Amino acid sequence: MIDSVKHYFIDISNQYENKSGYNYWDNHVKYVMQIAGDLAKEVGAELEIVEISAILHDVAKVLKLRENESHNLVGAEVAEEFLLNEGYDKEKIEKVKKCILYHSSDLDKSVKLSKEEWCVRNADIISMFHNITIFYFIALCEYQLSYNECRLCVKEMLQNKYHHLDTKLKKQYDDALRIIYDAI
Ligand SMILES: [Fe+2]
Repeated sequence: MIDSVKHYFIDISNQYENKSGYNYWDNHVKYVMQIAGDLAKEVGAELEIVEISAILHDVAKVLKLRENESHNLVGAEVAEEFLLNEGYDKEKIEKVKKCILYHSSDLDKSVKLSKEEWCVRNADIISMFHNITIFYFIALCEYQLSYNECRLCVKEMLQNKYHHLDTKLKKQYDDALRIIYDAI
């Protein structure tokens, strides 16, 4: 299943690149998948669920679907449709949907993340230490900001994302954050 999900996502990423110049797989999602997989092995999460969710977590953005709605919510629906078509197990699809639903933004205090959800959410944040260009793409191309506005916006996005990183993981990344922040 991983291979067909990856194949699908690389294909839509290439189509998106033809229109926008930015490749989500090459610049963002492949890092999220790698990091989420490493975290899954560390905490004993279900690797297949984590990897499929990591690949599809931003699918709504790449397909530019219902852009005025939450990309978490729309992405979970798209993933469900795609995986059902592929004949994937329904219980596993529910797990993937929740990983995508909770992968970013503030969470209600009542939400207790599963190991798989925790891996995808934190991998999305940690990926910015491997490739930060996604923030530049958003600031320059989506928001169409000037050079100075872009710098401020990237710093803000960096801080906002980092704010959501798990406290236990923050210790490992505090120094890297400071270096990147100062270099922007
Ligand atoms: Fe992402």
